[in-house]
Amino acid sequence: MTTDIERVTGTALDRVEGRDKVTGLARYAYEYPADDIAYVVPVPAAIARGTITGIDPGDALAVPGVLTVLSFRNAPPLAGNDPELRIFSSDRVSYRGQMVAAVVADTLEAAAEAARLVHVGYDAEPHDVLLRPDHPEAYVPEKVNPSFPAVSEQGDVEAALGDAAVTVDTTYTTPAYHNNAMEPHATLAVWSGDRLTAYDSNQGSSTARDMLAAAFGLEPGQVRVVSPHVGGGFGSKGTPRPQIVLAALAARAVGRPAKVALTRQHMFAVTGYRTPSIQRVRLGADASGRMTALAHEVEEQTSTLKEFAEQTAVPSRMMYAAPNRLTTHRVVALDVATPSWMRAPGECPGMYALESAMDELAVACGLDPIELRVRNEPEEDPESGLPWSSRNVVACLREGAAWFGWAGRDPAPGVRRDGRWLVGTGVAASTYPARRRPSEATARATADGRFTVRIAAADIGTGSRTALTQIAADALGVPPERVDVRIGDSALPTASLAGGSMGTASWGSAVAMACVRLRERLDGAGGEVPEDGIEARYDTADDIKADAAYARHAFGAQFAEVRVDPGTGEIRVPRLLGVFAAGRIINAKTARSQFIGGMTMGLAMALLEESVPDAEFGGFLNHDLAQYHVPANADVANIDARWIEEDDPHLNPMGSKGIGEIGIVGTAAAIGNAVHHATGVRFRDLPIRPDRVLDRAPQIGGRNL
Ligand code: MOS
Repeated sequence: MTTDIERVTGTALDRVEGRDKVTGLARYAYEYPADDIAYVVPVPAAIARGTITGIDPGDALAVPGVLTVLSFRNAPPLAGNDPELRIFSSDRVSYRGQMVAAVVADTLEAAAEAARLVHVGYDAEPHDVLLRPDHPEAYVPEKVNPSFPAVSEQGDVEAALGDAAVTVDTTYTTPAYHNNAMEPHATLAVWSGDRLTAYDSNQGSSTARDMLAAAFGLEPGQVRVVSPHVGGGFGSKGTPRPQIVLAALAARAVGRPAKVALTRQHMFAVTGYRTPSIQRVRLGADASGRMTALAHEVEEQTSTLKEFAEQTAVPSRMMYAAPNRLTTHRVVALDVATPSWMRAPGECPGMYALESAMDELAVACGLDPIELRVRNEPEEDPESGLPWSSRNVVACLREGAAWFGWAGRDPAPGVRRDGRWLVGTGVAASTYPARRRPSEATARATADGRFTVRIAAADIGTGSRTALTQIAADALGVPPERVDVRIGDSALPTASLAGGSMGTASWGSAVAMACVRLRERLDGAGGEVPEDGIEARYDTADDIKADAAYARHAFGAQFAEVRVDPGTGEIRVPRLLGVFAAGRIINAKTARSQFIGGMTMGLAMALLEESVPDAEFGGFLNHDLAQYHVPANADVANIDARWIEEDDPHLNPMGSKGIGEIGIVGTAAAIGNAVHHATGVRFRDLPIRPDRVLDRAPQIGGRNL
């Protein structure tokens, strides 16, 4: 990637599709045109568990414009291995809101009206949707997401805890959380004979194509998924959702193109969510704060349909040194929709608990919380023994402390007042793995001096199209204006998902190498481009096998200042600072946006967001943005994200680590730790709602001053 022009990676290049987005030219799934479109509205199950005894479509079919009512009575069986996607396959109901029928009509209005008139009879059975401590049905799963062992153990953690000079034994809970992408899950399905095209909102068109092909018993080559612009996903569009199958099923049933967009309310039922968690953390340390024992034991939920076990304790396997260690996961299969990915599954809730417990240990040891973390830095990955490809969490903590103004902080909790506010500051560390998945790309030079890069990557709003343009431009040694990057279409070379913060590293590796190859070919041809162009292709499958030689993670430090009103329970966050070490930053503008977006979600996790299970009827009580609170501008004051330069040769051709998820990791702990510093009270259940603050008001230091 040597070039005599200035490198474009690292600069703050504007989004290459920015103009299309602000002028409305960028099309999202539901906006694609087709002739004679039929509209589909699903009917959600009204019970949490039981059997459908009857479906009476009579009134629905009587609505003018209604074409058909689909249900298990008449829908063809679907194949594939995801029970959440085999819709209408049986008379069983596994969770409230599950799709039990759907109306297909000439207009959206007719379909919506008729969907209310589909009469579904149920034989309801008793259900259980509540995760609770030591649930009698809890079990240890085989694996946790994506394929980690559920349990890890080194040394004798119980003995070490018994011998430790200082111990912390605390339990934290986090609620269910829902992704709320601005663009709902939506699909337009168009059949042409036995070929299917789906304009769909997803985090990976290759994955969606493979799933659709499996569901309908087709070859992948018979299916095309088109998704050039996606309005957010956060994990909820990483695995295809039932609407894509429903659109295809409906289109085939009526012999017309069919489109479906989930309503915001229905998104809360069928697009996955972050499992609630109950996390016990036990830490043991000597008098100087060096940890001798670390135990992190998690209980969380899954569904009766399929198992999803979040890897919540996994970050505790690599974050700190301690000779005696234990991590465990137990899950309970409840009568709920299957939980799934939400920004930093595992690291996000797990680091909330671990980093809160570290703060408690710092207080117990009388140590500054940054100093405690520095003292427990592991030289190598503690459980795998692998060397770090790079690990700069200490640099993030130190530089963050300087930028935030940590020096001279009075550790005494509950003593700083500013009018009605109690003021405090908190810190937490952050981490996220830096992985890659196999991907293929082509790069083509044309006689007009332009270059086209093709890869079925996804841009879910992150700026990946722009980052790939920069990567290609540097690899080719040309300005980015001469590079066209085509993504978001399964007809392009196969690529991995936008997920696990692996997108840019995975696709960028393929793009960079395809461009390097193309350049070699061009050099070989004396720089002449033949009339029909010249192309190179690269598949990274073999390269990434070498990645296993190092423990590869991004790191960071989160700093928060909070103000707590003990009279109203209100908590404000006037300042958040995140400092990250994430390899080389490809685009300073979109990276900053990713970090800040993640931190905003972390703030919301700490204080606002919460999906409340409906114990009586199943599903969730709050399922719209009126009752599920995401931050508004007024909730987000001064959020700053910075990064330190990191030169890591063990990653990929760009030297980059993923940045989509690390921003959310540690934020909630930093805020919770700051709330303790402000009030002197530990709130160990998220979110820290005003009513929870008021419940503890008599204990709040400020009250008694
Ligand atoms: Mo992200 S939750 O890995 O799509």
